[in-house]
Amino acid sequence: MENTISAKFSTLEASATLKTNEHVDRLMASGQEVFHLAFGESRFPVHPKLLEALKDNAHQTHYLPSQGLPALRKAIARFYSNDLDLNISDSQVIVGPGSKSLIFALQMALDGELLLPTPSWVSYSPQAHMLAKPVRYVPSSLNDGYKLDIERLEKTIGESQYTTKILLINSPNNPSGCMYESSFFEQLAEVCRKHKIIVISDEIYGLVAHGEHKHISIANYYPEASIILGGISKHLSLGGWRLGCAVVPNTALGEQLMDALTTIASEIWSSPSAPIQFAACTAYDESPEILSYIEECTILHTIRTQHLYRSLSALGIRCTHPNGGFYFVASFDRWRQQLASNGVCNSDDLADHLLENYALATLSGAVFGIPGDDLSLRLASSKLDLETDAQAAALLIAYRSGMNPSALVERYHPRMDEAISRFSRFVQDMSAISELEVCEM
Ligand SMILES: Cc1ncc(COP(=O)(O)O)c(C=O)c1O
Repeated sequence: MENTISAKFSTLEASATLKTNEHVDRLMASGQEVFHLAFGESRFPVHPKLLEALKDNAHQTHYLPSQGLPALRKAIARFYSNDLDLNISDSQVIVGPGSKSLIFALQMALDGELLLPTPSWVSYSPQAHMLAKPVRYVPSSLNDGYKLDIERLEKTIGESQYTTKILLINSPNNPSGCMYESSFFEQLAEVCRKHKIIVISDEIYGLVAHGEHKHISIANYYPEASIILGGISKHLSLGGWRLGCAVVPNTALGEQLMDALTTIASEIWSSPSAPIQFAACTAYDESPEILSYIEECTILHTIRTQHLYRSLSALGIRCTHPNGGFYFVASFDRWRQQLASNGVCNSDDLADHLLENYALATLSGAVFGIPGDDLSLRLASSKLDLETDAQAAALLIAYRSGMNPSALVERYHPRMDEAISRFSRFVQDMSAISELEVCEM
């Protein structure tokens, strides 16, 4: 049978992050040494209270309402009201199998053009493509730390022919690690209000802020048309539990949106797994144990991400400054000529080159919408030295024993340090090429 698959899929592939992770896993399983900086998965253990809650609810076999378990929605509304200093009611909350599905559902429910700041997370644009939704990119540059520039946004809005526009923002950001501050959101809210833009605010890393800036939601400045996305995948290391949530505005738009989202949920996934929803009530119960666990894991992500960032910056690799999450973008533009002499002409080639020659697995900046010519990579700190559950548990115990950050880095991060040494060797190799070229001249 020919032409049975929709033409949309001729240009779409499986998500680059998941595909690369599977490739790296296969390499490792075949005994190859690989330093995995390509995948963002928080690796800390399930908190014992959550484990207990899941065991206690394994018998929950019935389908739950498409909007989500009422007790869970109530807990989520209370949690984010306190965390974000908002007044959220449970009617504004819907839960889904990961925030990824809810972002897809939102893109499906909302008409109009998607304004997408780049770089941005790998799935936003393919989701829009699957829905035949028009996308207009708002580029940024490494010089601005790949942050959204509001003037540039206004210019892009001016070029759009569509009356309805949706802006998708993400802070803390994947891939850059940047976080936006209140002054930025004030200005952004003004622009969005003026142009009647609906904002999808992906705040999945909101509780993994490194401390320099507090996580703030655009919903504080633009409550009438901002939708917040959250979940338990990152700050509680529960990506595989597949539970995310969306908070719609407390307006007529929010009500219509909730109706549409609930319809989509009812026709596609019905509701997330019942035992997980019951257990997730504990994740959002604001108990001192869970809150302090989130804080501990965040501190460890901060120590690890900042160590990697500082070490690579010290080697002369230009990186975005991470303020939250476990990622940053590194640019290798300064070695453009030397890389070209090795046949490395874009970010995809660069990622392949580092994997083949230094066993460093990274993700090409191109999959996040950064021009391939920029020679940039996204690096994730979350996996190295936490490859096994036992290592992740040991790091947590060491932290709880009062070990200071530099001792934690020194004693528990041999593979991260080896990866840094390999970047150092790369830098030396690049300078050797320059010297050769200079000698030949
Ligand atoms: C920026 C961003 N948004 C959303 C998600 C999806 O998270 P989940 O579907 O697990 O809630 C991820 C996962 O990597 C992400 O990095």
